[in-house]
Amino acid sequence: MRQVLVLNGPNLGRLGSREPEIYGTVDHAALADLLAEWGSALGLEVSLRQTDEESRLIEWIHQAADAATPVILNPAAFTHYSYALRDAVADLTSRGVPLIEVHLSNPASREPFRRNSTISEVATGTIAGFGPTSYHLALQALPPV
Ligand code: DQA
Repeated sequence: MRQVLVLNGPNLGRLGSREPEIYGTVDHAALADLLAEWGSALGLEVSLRQTDEESRLIEWIHQAADAATPVILNPAAFTHYSYALRDAVADLTSRGVPLIEVHLSNPASREPFRRNSTISEVATGTIAGFGPTSYHLALQALPPV
């Protein structure tokens, strides 16, 4: 089965109770269940990881680059200012490994600081604004390596 790594950045472990009017009521454990279900229907084995640490996310992206594992990444707030994360993503996608940037909300319709993404320019594509369905769309959109 094709492996896919889904990486969630800071504060996403608090899904379900964190600003539910913006991020919805599906918590991280329920998102894990949905991803496993959607993945198996698409013939994908999904591993979901979440961290609040930038260095951990970068380490996981390096591992994915070395193993040529496609990634779905919600960089959360790092989206808007992390050049280190961007460089790790550029290293991965420049090897031909796909990485789809996802967001639950639509950052473009929110505060001005959210309108910039350091990641979009080096991602394979971006899906935002559809709640957990953003991840489902990303699984469906993943191009072959
Ligand atoms: C987010 C949007 C970011 O602006 C925010 O910092 C998050 C979540 C989203 O999924 O909508 O933590 O990435």
